[in-house]
Amino acid sequence: MTQVRDILVTSALPYANGPIHIGHLVEYIQTDIWARFQKMRGHNCWYVCADDAHGTPIMLKARAEGIAPEALIERVAAEHKADFAAFRINFDNYHSTHSAENRHFAELIYNRNRDQDHIARREIKQAYDPVEKMFLPDRFIKGDCPKCGAADQYGDNCEACGASYSPAELKNPRSAVSGAVPEMRRSEHFFFKLADFEAMLRDWTRGGGLQKQVANKLDEWFDAGLQEWDISRDAPYFGFEIPDASGKFFYVWLDAPIGYMASFQHLCERTPGLAFDRFWAKDSSAELYHFIGKDIIYFHALFWPAMLNGADFRAPTAVFAHGFLTVDGQKMSKSRGTFIKASTYLEHLNPEYLRYYFAAKLGPGVDDIDLSLEDFQARVNADLVGKIVNIASRTASFIHKRFDGRLAASLPEPALFAEFVAAGESIARAYDQRELARAMREIMALADRANQYIDEQAPWVMAKAPERVAELHGVCTLGLNLFRLLIGWLRPVLPGTAEAAEEFLRIEPLTWEALPKPLLDHRIETFKPLMTRIERSQIDAMLAASRVDLAATPGAVQVTPPVASLDPPLADSIDYDTFTQVDLRIARIVEASLVEGADKLLRLRLDLGGEERQVFAGIRAAYTPESLTGRLTVMVANLAPRKMRFGVSEGMVLAAGPGGKDLFLLSPDSGATPGMKVK
Ligand code: MSP
Ligand code: ZN
Repeated sequence: MTQVRDILVTSALPYANGPIHIGHLVEYIQTDIWARFQKMRGHNCWYVCADDAHGTPIMLKARAEGIAPEALIERVAAEHKADFAAFRINFDNYHSTHSAENRHFAELIYNRNRDQDHIARREIKQAYDPVEKMFLPDRFIKGDCPKCGAADQYGDNCEACGASYSPAELKNPRSAVSGAVPEMRRSEHFFFKLADFEAMLRDWTRGGGLQKQVANKLDEWFDAGLQEWDISRDAPYFGFEIPDASGKFFYVWLDAPIGYMASFQHLCERTPGLAFDRFWAKDSSAELYHFIGKDIIYFHALFWPAMLNGADFRAPTAVFAHGFLTVDGQKMSKSRGTFIKASTYLEHLNPEYLRYYFAAKLGPGVDDIDLSLEDFQARVNADLVGKIVNIASRTASFIHKRFDGRLAASLPEPALFAEFVAAGESIARAYDQRELARAMREIMALADRANQYIDEQAPWVMAKAPERVAELHGVCTLGLNLFRLLIGWLRPVLPGTAEAAEEFLRIEPLTWEALPKPLLDHRIETFKPLMTRIERSQIDAMLAASRVDLAATPGAVQVTPPVASLDPPLADSIDYDTFTQVDLRIARIVEASLVEGADKLLRLRLDLGGEERQVFAGIRAAYTPESLTGRLTVMVANLAPRKMRFGVSEGMVLAAGPGGKDLFLLSPDSGATPGMKVK
């Protein structure tokens, strides 16, 4: 065994405004396999991550749901953690960028850089939403594409023609938040002077730790010249206020990578003997690796090492970028059902399948990887069920029936076992170099060899000849010992299956060091199938569950008028803008009461998440007042108030059906809360 290494590993921090999907999982599975491998080798390896909780999209999403951003990120963190746990992503710590530790390090890194004169301040002009009273990120400005004229394009690029441009070039720009025409306003911003670090970054790039494609990218960026980076945002913003500038906040990407430090610090606080400085001090000899997607290389390979350097911390040993996931050769798509959430996958398939498939496809480069569903099914069934599990199922029953569950005291062909053991170092090298596909190929080649051995020996023939009982015992013992090696090498990829195999073999969790010593004269448990085959129907059910039908399904939905009247004729079509002008909200019926002198109406008191409305609805024939109190429904919140004989009606509730008794109030699925925007 070589020297014990100190290794800190991270995966990029997922945004706290959406669910984990199988694209994300490429990264978390890749990192987890690598970290588990290093731990199995006996290294002092720690794997930390966190939710990336700050920024405008999270602030606006919380607002749309009518909840505080803190409540949103708490809910999403719980979902993320559950998904990761189910996929057996074995974080040593999972934290949040919205944490005391992260505030501490964000301020420290900022202050140190400022004191070294690496922060500049100047005014810039930026789009401003006069209705929402906020500056607008590019993604929140929409308008017509300046190149092809396509309507409703984002401020940075056009999805119709692919052109990229600045938001100022958009025709008919509008705020995606309020719909207002943005104004240009001035405001002071803070900039990180990246060019101060060019020499350091060039050195770091040549250090040999980077993938070739990443180093090439960096060279391009050096050639283009290193630009100052805007690290501040104006209020309102969900993030950390900049210490010496009230009303200014750190841009989410400033404190996001600092979240790696914060999560590790949080781990140190709870782990005796684990010292932060040992991993982060300028002179640290520990190894620090960031696994990331290729879309965020700029942040990790330029800004991050520079910020660390300016604050007197060490730079990462290496950044490992991976490519993007496609499904059946195409970008994940909601309409095809290939935008598969982790939680949806788990309802249909064993997580170990996906872990193995990604491992079988991943190399050390940044190429995209494709999940071909047919290949996925074929590969898992052939390799895991057909090769690996098969070795145990072909030999274990004889050990049970004939030898009282006990393995023989010696191996019949020690040379074969030794040959397998010797292959372990090459497999370890492949893992260490993130050549996961190569590691899987080598393991499966050995599995073929083990199956071939069993075929040649034909224990089922030996079992029929009483004089060959010792031979039978030996062959099955060797078969199970080869199985033990294979499952040991697969342990980083298949932690759940390995655990079940360890129970079956009645052994301690396997380490790399323990592998060469065969298991002899040892009682094992009865064999239970460790894994079942994938059926196509499971995949189809998963796709169906993921498919979001984007075609409109017009039904009997209508807006209930406050007083019964004829339905107005419907327009053939309305444009999207007209539709988005209708402010539909979740409302809670706080109270419903009869209205004197109006036998078709009920008076509803509605809670819109803090705000109250009174609405008169023509639903009395269908509902008693008591049956309505407390329930949630959907209302039009920006209908002009209408003065009626009994009072003012401030909106409408939505119901379906012909009317009279046959009227059905809409209600949201559970989880919706008053004030949420319906879209
Ligand atoms: N919050 C930032 C990362 C901050 S790190 C200091 C972010 N979050 S993300 O949720 O959008 O993505 C998290 C990671 O998942 C990124 O490394 C990203 O590249 C990766 N992936 C997201 N979608 C992916 C695919 N479809 N395929 C492969 N990886 C993908 O970026
Ligand atoms: Zn265009």
